[in-house]
Amino acid sequence: MIPVELYDYISKRKSVRQYDDRPLDIRAISEILEFVGKAEPLHKEIKKEIQVVSKDEINVFLPVRSPHYLMMTSEPREGYLENAGFLLQQIDLFLSSKGYGSCYVGMALPSKEARSMSELEYVIVLAFGRPAEPLHRTEPSEFKRKPLPEIADLSELMEDIDSFDAVTDIMDSVRLAPSATNGQPWYMVPDTGRLDFYCVKLGFIKSIGYRKMNRIDMGAALCHCSLAAEHAGIPSEFIFDSEAQKRCPKDYYYTGTILLNQAGTAR
Ligand SMILES: Cc1cc2nc3c(=O)[nH]c(=O)nc-3n(C[C@H](O)[C@H](O)[C@H](O)COP(=O)(O)O)c2cc1C
Repeated sequence: MIPVELYDYISKRKSVRQYDDRPLDIRAISEILEFVGKAEPLHKEIKKEIQVVSKDEINVFLPVRSPHYLMMTSEPREGYLENAGFLLQQIDLFLSSKGYGSCYVGMALPSKEARSMSELEYVIVLAFGRPAEPLHRTEPSEFKRKPLPEIADLSELMEDIDSFDAVTDIMDSVRLAPSATNGQPWYMVPDTGRLDFYCVKLGFIKSIGYRKMNRIDMGAALCHCSLAAEHAGIPSEFIFDSEAQKRCPKDYYYTGTILLNQAGTAR
């Protein structure tokens, strides 16, 4: 289970791009690595590693310079990018809860030496360190996000007053998830006891740069969904449902379904 106290940081977190250059001490790094070791995967069977790498080992193409980076590598199996986003988003929330800034950096490449620390495929880095800018948002309006009706099919939900609040809260937490270039590629379809997740299909040109990133985004969104369900006291489970795949809206592809195991919580 994702520690439920991290829920509060869904509505506070933000990407931090300015850092204090001083490295964190060994105790702080150990505490972070302890959390990393306990973070809950979406797919337990996929081998992955998350290692701390210093700034000298990272080539960043945009100005996000932090003293440390978490480098994620993984077996490139079905679902590995969603798994990466699901794990890293727990870590992003944890860092935020501990007073550290963090930012995914898709536009970065660790040195060959750093990448050779793992036999697995390089996925992405998460920059982290002491923030040199405000760490948290204080107002919901500070989140630049699409409104819920743009990212969810609310037509069925409107008729189900009993489940409306719980499911709307969960979907609102998904809405706040971070995504590469703030693209917010997700679309949610609530149905009885479940939320189906779809990801926007990209055109040929965009897909060259963003196809992988969008799948990491979907993992971050699924993390917010699971955590919000847990906070609402609703047990949840991630599944792949071929029927939901058949119902895929035009121009999207199916990512998976979060079952919300409480009769009548969604429809
Ligand atoms: C997969 C992924 C890749 C990202 N890559 C970068 C990046 O290369 N550079 C950067 O400055 N921000 C990057 N971000 C951060 C997003 O720009 C940011 O999450 C988004 O604009 C929303 O803002 P917020 O996180 O402050 O809420 C990335 C985020 C994700 C999820």
